[in-house]
Amino acid sequence: MSDDRIISAREQKDDKTWDLTLRPQSFDEYIGQTQVKTNLDVVLRAAKQRKEPLDHVLLFGPPGLGKTTLAHIISKEMGVGIKVTSGPAISKAGDLAAIITNLQEGDILFIDEIHRLNKTIEEILYPAMEDFALDIVLGKGPSAQILRLDLPRFTLIGATTRYNLISSPLRDRFGVTFRLDFYSSEEIAQIVRRSADILSVPIAQDAGQEIASRSRATPRIANRILKRVRDYAQVKADGNVSYEITRQALDMMAIDRYGLDDLDRRLLRALVESFAGGPVGINTLAAAVQEEAGTIEEIFEPYLMQLGFLSRTAKGRVATDKTYDYLGIERTDKNRLF
Ligand code: ADE
Repeated sequence: MSDDRIISAREQKDDKTWDLTLRPQSFDEYIGQTQVKTNLDVVLRAAKQRKEPLDHVLLFGPPGLGKTTLAHIISKEMGVGIKVTSGPAISKAGDLAAIITNLQEGDILFIDEIHRLNKTIEEILYPAMEDFALDIVLGKGPSAQILRLDLPRFTLIGATTRYNLISSPLRDRFGVTFRLDFYSSEEIAQIVRRSADILSVPIAQDAGQEIASRSRATPRIANRILKRVRDYAQVKADGNVSYEITRQALDMMAIDRYGLDDLDRRLLRALVESFAGGPVGINTLAAAVQEEAGTIEEIFEPYLMQLGFLSRTAKGRVATDKTYDYLGIERTDKNRLF
C-alpha cells in the first residue's frame, strides 16, 4: 500500500522512462557518492590495465540512491555489455543458465534485489562466480551425472537494500563491496538542477533547494517531485518553478519540511502514542500501522534513523527526544519507558 507514495524510494512504473533521460551516463555526470566513485575508478582502471574482467561487485544501500545507475556506468566505462535482471525474476535454474551462457567475455550481469534469489539458484551462482563454470545435473537419483559447462569470464554486479539478508557464502564471493549512502542536500539540489536542465524546466535556485530538502536525501524521489512540481507550475502558474509554487505543490502533497508524509507520521505517532515511545518489536509496530515489517525496515526506517527520529535497539524500536519535538508531544516520565 505504501509503494505509490510520492516519497517512496522504491521504483515506480513512471520512474523507468524518466530514468532513461535523466540517468547519468558517466562518473563525471554522476553527482555524489564520491568515495564509492573514487574507489570504483581505481578498481576499474586496474582491471582495464590488466585486460581482465572486473571483479564481482556488491552494491548495497537504501533504494533510490543509484545502484542500477552505477552498474550501467560501470559497463560503459569498461566498454562491455550489461544484462539486467533481478532476484525475484530468476525462479528456475534454467532462467539463470540461459542468461549466463549468453554473456560475452567481460560482460556484466546485474542482479538487482539479489537478497531475493532462492537458495538453489544461489548455489548455482557459486561455481559460476568462482570458477566461471555451470554445473548441470543430468538425470535423477543414483545415475545422475554432473555436466560442467565453461562460461565466459563475466562480472556479477549484485545490488541489495538488505545487506544482512545476503548469506555469507554469497557475500564472500564478491571481490569488492560498496555501500551507498544518503546524499547531502547540496548534492540533491545539484541533481535537481541537472534534471531540470535536461528537461528544460525553468527552476529558481531556492526552489531547487526546497525540493532537495524534502526529498529524503534520495535522487529518485527528488526527480519524481520535480516532475510533479513541474506539472503544478504548468497548471497553476506560468510554468516557471518558483519557490512559492514549489512550496504550494509540496504542501498539497502533504510532504513536510523533512520530506515526511502521512505514513511516516502515522508510524512515529504509533510508536509514541501506542507504545509509549518503545522499545517495541518491529512486527508489533508493523501490525499497528498495517504495513509489512520488511517495508518498514527497508523504506521507512533508514531515513527516519538518518533524521534521528527513530533508533533500533536490541529490545526494539524506540522514539527519541527529537521524535517528540517533531510531533509536538511532550515527553513525560509516564511516557518514558527506556
Ligand atoms: N540522477 C539520479 N541520480 C543522479 C546522480 N547521482 N547524479 C546525477 N544525476 C542523477
